[in-house]
Amino acid sequence: MDQNVVVVGDEISANHALRLIRKNRVLVWRGDYWNARQLLRALKRRVGKSPLLKSLLVELGPEYQLGLRRAPDVTEACTQAYGPCEGPRLVALQELVGVLSAHEWRVRGVYVEVLGERIHPHYGVFAPTRQDYLELVANAEFEGAATAFDIGTGTGVIAILLARRGTQRVVATDIEPRAVACARENAERLAPARIQVEERNLFPAGKADLVVSNPPWLPGVPQSALHAGVYDQGMLQGFLDTLPAHLNPGGEAWLVMSDLAERLGLRGSLTELIQRAGLQVAGRLDTRPSTRIRQGQDPLAAVKAQEIISLWRLKQAHLHRPDTRLEPAAGVELDHGGGDVAADCTDADT
Ligand SMILES: C[S@@+](CC[C@H](N)C(=O)[O-])C[C@H]1O[C@@H](n2cnc3c(N)ncnc32)[C@H](O)[C@@H]1O
Repeated sequence: MDQNVVVVGDEISANHALRLIRKNRVLVWRGDYWNARQLLRALKRRVGKSPLLKSLLVELGPEYQLGLRRAPDVTEACTQAYGPCEGPRLVALQELVGVLSAHEWRVRGVYVEVLGERIHPHYGVFAPTRQDYLELVANAEFEGAATAFDIGTGTGVIAILLARRGTQRVVATDIEPRAVACARENAERLAPARIQVEERNLFPAGKADLVVSNPPWLPGVPQSALHAGVYDQGMLQGFLDTLPAHLNPGGEAWLVMSDLAERLGLRGSLTELIQRAGLQVAGRLDTRPSTRIRQGQDPLAAVKAQEIISLWRLKQAHLHRPDTRLEPAAGVELDHGGGDVAADCTDADT
């Protein structure tokens, strides 16, 4: 075995484990499963959400068997997350805990207030746990639409909401195959025959009366599938640039967007991006996220406390005069502290 790999078990203390990890050792756990979970929690208390936690590994055998005392059956959860088993492998216990909690969510579903239904997210698909943005979509003035597009559909929740609000046909797209499979499953259950889900970069073919999108809101490169719904690698710009070509005459788009990136100085003004794309703002609904902010622990707490999520109603610029009565977002207070902004939405419970 590699010199950097140390086999450990029930007898190791959290302090000893941490000393080994800090010396670049990787720990392979062979003790009791629940003791391993306890050790992981103890390490987290000492180092926070540090990458050091990834150094505590467990072995998954053929068919994803976890050969530890008191271990749960992880086969189904691992198959859903990783696909069919291709042989034994080592996995960070922290990641496995995330895979198991994603499986729990998929089985139980997330209750979505504005639908009065449960949505079942798949592993790695953006889950509607913060639902303030859905209230914006549910409350936006709507006279009905023959066709709507939901771009970046994730679990399909917005497409389903649009169908429930009376849209005759919704075409939903996502670039991630996992999201496409997940949205198809949810749509099949909650709005059969009204929704078509396509694996696509941005738009499907054709035009729609209403285009809705809740794109990733922080510019950056996702480090894992779990962050793909949060970090934007160009979707927002691509969406705005190609939107005019996909709106029917008189059609409208609803862009759902947090202003956190602007507050952090990570992105220029959204209003300018909108104007440069040949679009104009026909109205805006704002809400403040109801997420509890962990004052003191979160270096971005001051900025997050100011965050506003908006539904921007957009139209082709030449068809309508701009609405000059629009108020800009509330006072912007920048704080460039570090921290994992996406963590609230994606972290697994260790
Ligand atoms: C913030 S999530 C929103 C998911 C869902 N619409 C919701 O509101 O819960 C953004 C979604 O956009 C998808 N996405 C990112 N880039 C994309 C692209 N270029 N084309 C289509 N979908 C994309 C991601 O895979 C993710 O599912």
